[in-house]
Amino acid sequence: MVLFTLFTARRFSLTTSWLNLLRLLVFICIHIHNQPVASAQDTSSPDKASEPSRSIDILEAEARTARELSYAAAQLRKDLSTCQSRVQSVQKGFQNLYSTHLANVDGLRKCKEGILGAQEMEELEAKLAKLNDKVDPELMAEAQQTEDDNKRRLRYEEIASKHKELILSLENQVKQLRLREKAWERTISELVARRDLLERREGAWERTIGELMGEVEVRAKRESWWEGMKMEMEARIGALSKIGVLERFGPGPHQISVVVDLDDEQDTSSEPKHSEFILELAPVDVMPHSIHLFLSQIAEGYWSRGTPAIVINPGHVLQACPHPCLESASLGGKYSGDPYFEMKKAGIDAVSFQEYNPNYPHEKYTIGLAGRPHSGPEFYINLANNTLDHGPVEQRKKELGARFEDYVKEMFGEDSDDKVLEPDPCFGKVVKGFDVVDKIAERITWGSLPTKGEGGGRLYDHLLVRPVKIVSVSILDAKSSIVDKASNDEL
Ligand SMILES: *[C@@H]1O[C@H](CO)[C@@H](O)[C@H](O)[C@H]1NC(C)=O
Repeated sequence: MVLFTLFTARRFSLTTSWLNLLRLLVFICIHIHNQPVASAQDTSSPDKASEPSRSIDILEAEARTARELSYAAAQLRKDLSTCQSRVQSVQKGFQNLYSTHLANVDGLRKCKEGILGAQEMEELEAKLAKLNDKVDPELMAEAQQTEDDNKRRLRYEEIASKHKELILSLENQVKQLRLREKAWERTISELVARRDLLERREGAWERTIGELMGEVEVRAKRESWWEGMKMEMEARIGALSKIGVLERFGPGPHQISVVVDLDDEQDTSSEPKHSEFILELAPVDVMPHSIHLFLSQIAEGYWSRGTPAIVINPGHVLQACPHPCLESASLGGKYSGDPYFEMKKAGIDAVSFQEYNPNYPHEKYTIGLAGRPHSGPEFYINLANNTLDHGPVEQRKKELGARFEDYVKEMFGEDSDDKVLEPDPCFGKVVKGFDVVDKIAERITWGSLPTKGEGGGRLYDHLLVRPVKIVSVSILDAKSSIVDKASNDEL
């Protein structure tokens, strides 16, 4: 039995130490087997019991040893068989795993080639299930455990690296936010500085506006003061003019004789043929300043020598100039020639203000001073009712209403101001010699010729082709004219 065990054990290639142990065991077993024969012989031969105590001790000890050895041997046998079954189990386990692997490989191949039917699949699964059953569950569990551990470790590593990434990214974000915060802080401080600047500027503006408003008030006050002053001065000039007129020229009505040379081409006589028309000035209370000015000019003889002539006819007026109008500034000339400069030097060339009286409007055949502001010394005879065009702006506004703006643009151009809207003084009227005036008014202008003027502009177009020379202008004492006088003399 022991031998059999020994051989069986040997067949399973046990280690050399195991073999030696077994050999010792066999030897002991044989020894024990022979022992009962010897002890029987001892008991049967009492002569050998001369040394019973020693031999009994030995025998007892040997027996004890043998029992222990036997026990040890039994234990070893048990261990051996356990070991053996384990080895078998391991072997089988590996065989099962291998077959499972092969079956898997086979299944995989078939699956790849697409030749695995539903039936075969089931069979394969059954086969695998069967094989798995036969693998030692402990080993399977161990393998599973190892695999789980590996997986867990990998997972932990993955999670750890992800955490690291996350932390890095968060750190970056924090850095970015800090940078942004700094930028915002800068922006905010800039804005605060700007706000302060604007507030300071606003304060400065408020101060400036306040100052300007104060200045405007002062100016408005001054303007109204000047306005009052102007009106007072106008009234005084009027009063002084009246005194002047009364002292020098009497109370009027003042009549003026205007003698002109019509230079009639029809008249073949060598004697120049003089024609006359008579003006009567407005009552001295109505237009004192203008009357004083005109009478002074006449009294000084400015209109009775040199270059005065009736030169312009734009249709609505017939204008007389103390200078050849071709040389006037508006025609590019220099206002040269007497008596214009003499008048200017004497300071009686023009009115000091635009005197006007609504009770004496610019109706047909009345006379007015030309040029606004400071009208004079040119004067004109109205050939039509020019009350609206030559009167004060208030009257025009009242009469034209909504059409006023268009009227101003049409009459005076786009950039006209209130100056040109002031009235011309109207201070007398034709009372005799209307036919002479009408004859002069019939004379043609350069603008009416087919060739027109030579590019002299609007005023040039209104120049008479044959100007009418003013021979003399004189104040009549009696209600008679020089023409009448002349004819009387002839008589
Ligand atoms: C002259 O014109 C004005 C203004 O248009 C007008 O009020 C006045 O009646 C006219 N005078 C005559 C005599 O037509």
